[in-house]
Amino acid sequence: MAKKNEVTRRQFLNYTLTGVGGFMAAGMLMPMVRFAIDPVLKEGTEQEMVPVMDVSEITKEPQRKKFKVDQVDGWYESEVEQSAWVYKDEKDEIVALSPVCKHLGCTVDWSSNAAYPDQFYCPCHGGRYTKDGVNVPGTPPLAPLDVYKMKVEKGKLYLGKPEPR
Ligand code: FES
Repeated sequence: MAKKNEVTRRQFLNYTLTGVGGFMAAGMLMPMVRFAIDPVLKEGTEQEMVPVMDVSEITKEPQRKKFKVDQVDGWYESEVEQSAWVYKDEKDEIVALSPVCKHLGCTVDWSSNAAYPDQFYCPCHGGRYTKDGVNVPGTPPLAPLDVYKMKVEKGKLYLGKPEPR
């Protein structure tokens, strides 16, 4: 008969086998779990910079430029169409604004409403933005239009992901 606090052979084997079994199961499961959730651990969606237009084509008047980007979202890869309002500001610097309204996501147009010339106008709920993309107070949007990451290389304008300011 086992004395108090003494481990029997059966208990010793139980503990040992449970420990070794658990260790082996963890060794097999960890790589599978890691593989399954890997895309979730990566930050957001990735997007390369893509050429959109020649710098020489950019005017003071905003032009809507459409372009396609390869998007990787988790396991899902797709080609999506995006667009940007591109122009040169008064300092001759290139500006590329997202056309997605910050109210509920409609597409804004440049100077399309005769009552508000030289502004971005959202036809959905009358949202307005000044040329620099700042929302006009008193209209539905509560934030400025997102700005595209950009670079100029060999005379071409490349755009990346639009980011909030
Ligand atoms: S979605 Fe643009 S004002 Fe509502």
